[in-house]
Amino acid sequence: MAESKNGRYAHIVGWGKYVPSKVMTNADLARIVDTNDEWIVTRTGIRERRIAGSKDTTASMGFAAAKEALERAGIRPHEVDLIIVATATPEYVFPATACLIQDALGAVNAGAFDLSAGCTGFMYAMAVGAQTIRSGAHNIVLVIGAETLSRIMDWKDRATCVLFGDGAGAVVLRVGAGSGGVLATICRSDGSGGDLLMVPGGGSKCPPSHQTIDQGLHFIKMNGREVFRFATRIMDKSAREVAACAGIDLDDVDLVIPHQANLRIIQAAARALKMPEEKFFVNLQHYGNTSSASIPIAICEAVEQGRLKPGDHCVLVGFGAGLTWAAALVKWGEPKPLHEPTRLERAYEGLLYVGAGVRSRLARGFRRVESAVGGTPLPRSIDGEKGRKTKK
Ligand code: UT7
Repeated sequence: MAESKNGRYAHIVGWGKYVPSKVMTNADLARIVDTNDEWIVTRTGIRERRIAGSKDTTASMGFAAAKEALERAGIRPHEVDLIIVATATPEYVFPATACLIQDALGAVNAGAFDLSAGCTGFMYAMAVGAQTIRSGAHNIVLVIGAETLSRIMDWKDRATCVLFGDGAGAVVLRVGAGSGGVLATICRSDGSGGDLLMVPGGGSKCPPSHQTIDQGLHFIKMNGREVFRFATRIMDKSAREVAACAGIDLDDVDLVIPHQANLRIIQAAARALKMPEEKFFVNLQHYGNTSSASIPIAICEAVEQGRLKPGDHCVLVGFGAGLTWAAALVKWGEPKPLHEPTRLERAYEGLLYVGAGVRSRLARGFRRVESAVGGTPLPRSIDGEKGRKTKK
C-alpha cells in the first residue's frame, strides 16, 4: 500500500485539539469512590483527566478541534470534501455528530458521517479518510475523534471511572503528489470479545427504560483484565504488521503514538517490540483514556513538543471496544511555513464561522417557510396518478 499507483498520497496537513478546562485529579476521585492516587498511578499511570463542563459536548469539542486543524492547514471549511467523526459518545443516536460539526463549520460541500469502533475509532476513520483520498474520491478529509465519556461513566464504579476522560482531536488529510503522509493502515476486529467492553443499554436491543436506568445499563461496563490481555497481545503485532505493509523497518520508526489507555500496556508493547520506551509518546498522565480522541490529541502534543518532526516515520496504534484494533504508518510531512494572518485575514476567518451560524439559522427558517407555503406533495393515489385523491 505504501507506493501509490496513481501518485496520490494522503498527507496530514493540519491538526488541532480541544480539552475541557476542568481538571479532575486522582485525589478528587478518591473523595467520591474508594480509590487512591497510589493505586491509580501504579496500575495505570494516570494522574488527572479533563471533564466536560456544562457547555462542552462531543460536537462542540469536535468543532473546536476541527477549527484549529483547518486553520493550521490554511484550509477553508467549504473546501472540505468529507468529515468523519469517530466517537463512542455521539451527541444523539442520530443525526450524526459529524453533521452537527459540518453545519457549525459551514463545510457546505462536505459529506459527513460518524464511525463507531470504540477507542480504535480515530484509527479506522483515518484509514477510511486516507483511502478515499488515495482512490481519487476526495481531496480533503477532516478526521475527528471526540468523546464525552464522563456522561456515560458510572461514578460509583472505581474499576472504570478512574480510567477515562473527555476531549477531542482532529487532523486534516489532503491529497499530495509527493510520497508521504499515511503510507499504510491496517484495521482488524474480533466481535467475539464484544461483551468485554460495552454500554449494554440504550440501543435497539435494550432501549432506555426505568429498568435499564435502575440497573445502570447506560454506563460503561468493562472486564479490565481481559481487555488488558487483549491489548498487550495486539499492540506489537499491529505495529509490526503495519510497518511491514509500508516497507519500513521497525528500527527506522522514530516515534510510536499508541492509544493512551494504560502506561503498563504501552510499556509491554515497547518490550515486545524491543524498542526503547522513549520512542513511545505518552500523555495519559494528564488526560486518562479519551477513547477516540486519545491519538489525535497525542499527535498535537507530540508536534508541539518537537517529538514529531518532518521526515519522521511514526506508527499510530489503537485498540478498543468491538473488539477492534488498527494501526497506521505515517511519514510526517514538511509543515507549511507559518503565515501569521493579518488582522483583516483574522477578521475574515472569524466572519466565516459567524457566517456558518447565520447560514444554518437561515436554512432552518427557509425550510419552515417553504413547508408552510408549499406544503408537502400529495401522496400518489393507488391508481398511480400523482396528486389526485382516489375516488371512493
Ligand atoms: O481503550 C480500552 C479501554 N480499556 C482499557 O484499556 C483497560 C485495560 N485494563 C486495564 O487497564 C487494567 O486491567 C485496569 C487498570 C482496569 C485494572 O488493573 P489490574 O491490574 O488489571 O487490576 P484488577 O482489575 O486485577 O484489580 C486488582 C485489585 C482488585 O482488588 P482485589 O480483588 O484484588 O481485592 C480491584 O477491586 O484492584 C482493585 N481495584 C481498585 N483499587 C483501588 C480496581 N479498581 C480500583 C481502583 N482503586 N480504582
